[in-house]
Amino acid sequence: MNNFELHNPTKLIFGKGQIQKLKEQLPKKAKILLVYGGGSIKKNGVYDTVKQNLSEYSFVEFGGIEPNPQFDTLMKAVSIVRTEKIDFILAVGGGSVIDGTKFIAAAANFRGNPWDILAKGTTVKSAIPFGTILTLPATGSEMNSFAVISKGNEKLAFGHPILHPQFSILDPKITFSLFDRQLNNGIVDTFVHTTEQYLTSSINTPIQDRFAEGILLTLIEEADKVMKLKDDYDSRANLMLSATMALNGFIGIGVDQDWATHQIGHELTALYGIDHARSLAVILPSLLRIQKETKKDKLVQFASRVWNIPTTDSDTMIEKAIQMTEDFFENLGVPTKLRFYKIPKQDFPKITDAINKHFSGSLGENQDLDKTRILQILEAAY
Ligand code: NZQ
Ligand code: ZN
Repeated sequence: MNNFELHNPTKLIFGKGQIQKLKEQLPKKAKILLVYGGGSIKKNGVYDTVKQNLSEYSFVEFGGIEPNPQFDTLMKAVSIVRTEKIDFILAVGGGSVIDGTKFIAAAANFRGNPWDILAKGTTVKSAIPFGTILTLPATGSEMNSFAVISKGNEKLAFGHPILHPQFSILDPKITFSLFDRQLNNGIVDTFVHTTEQYLTSSINTPIQDRFAEGILLTLIEEADKVMKLKDDYDSRANLMLSATMALNGFIGIGVDQDWATHQIGHELTALYGIDHARSLAVILPSLLRIQKETKKDKLVQFASRVWNIPTTDSDTMIEKAIQMTEDFFENLGVPTKLRFYKIPKQDFPKITDAINKHFSGSLGENQDLDKTRILQILEAAY
C-alpha cells in the first residue's frame, strides 16, 4: 500500500427533507451569492425551498451556469462577488454548478488572470467559503476539492484542499426530476471514477478494493431500479451515496490511480461537446483492452468479484469482463463506440495533440500511455 494522507472536511447532510437544515449551516450575517444552473431548480421546487431558507439572509442570485461550466460566464459571477462583497457562496445544482462555484470562490480573491489557475496551474491561495445542495448524483464534486472548467475548446481541471465545500446537502428526492440521460450519465460517471482508482496496479490494498467493488456492485444492482422507477427513494439514495463515495478521496487512499480515461474524455467533450460520462463510456473499454497486461491482476479480480465470471484463463476472463461492462453501459442507453458521434478518424491526431498540450508526459498509473497507445485506444474505440 502507498503512503497517504486523508483529510476531508466537508460535512455531508444526507436524506429526506435535509434542505431544512440549510439555515443552521450558513454563517450568521453572511452576505450570500446563490448560484445555480439553467433553471431546473425553478421547475422542481428546490429554488423556492432554498429561498424560504434564505429569508433571514441578505443574498444575491447568479443563475445560468451551463453544463461544462464556461470561464466567461463564471467571471461574471466573480465580478458580482467582488462588487457585492459576498462572503459565502451557496451552489445549488449538479457537478457543473458546483465546479463553477469552486472556480468563482478561488478566482474572486486571485490576483492576476484567473485563467492561469487552469492553464498554468497557478496555486490558489484563498477562496470564498461555500456550501452546496446537490441535485445530480455523478461527479462527487459535492465532497471533493476539484473542478473542471471550459473555455472555447479547452476543458481543464484544477483543485486545492481549500476548495472542499463546507457542507453538502443531499436529498435523494431531488433526483426525481432528472431525465434518463442525466441519470444514466451519473451511473456511468460514478462507475468510471471507481475504475480509475481500482483497475490499476495490484499492491495489496484489500480494504480499498472491497470499497470500490462495493460501489461497482451497488451500481450494477441498483441501475435498473434507478432508471425504471421514477420515484423510488431507496435506489436514488443508493446511487447518490455511491457517486459521493466514488470521488471523495476514500477509495483512492494508498492506491495507484489512472485517470487516463478522464483525460482523454475531457478532450472529446472540449472538441465535440460529448457529455462527460458519454466520453468515458467510449474510452474506458478500449483503454482496458490496450492496457490489459499492466492491469492484469486487477482485471481478473474485477471479472471474478464484480461480474461473477468463473475462473478460466485470464485473457478470457478479462475480455468477458470488458464486454459485460460495455453491455452494462449500452443497456443503460449510453453508447460505447466513437463512431456513434460521427467523429472522423482523420481527427485523431487533433485529439492527441490536445492531450499533449494539456498533459506533460505519458498518461496512466504507470505513465505508459504515449501518443501511439492513445491512438490505438481511439482506433479500438471507433
Ligand atoms: O442547469 P440546470 O438547469 O440545473 O440543469 C442541469 C443540466 O442541464 C440538469 N439537472 C441537474 N440537476 C437536475 C437537473 N435536471 C432536473 N432535475 C435535477 N435535479 O442536468 C444537466 C447536467 O448537469 P451537470 O451539472 O452538467 O451534470 P454533472 O453533474 O454530470 O456535471 C458534469 C460536469 O462535472 C465535471 C464534468 O467534466 C462536467 O463539466 N466533473 C467534475 C468532477 C469533479 N469536480 O470532481 C469530476 C468529474 O469527473 C467531472 O469531470
Ligand atoms: Zn467523471
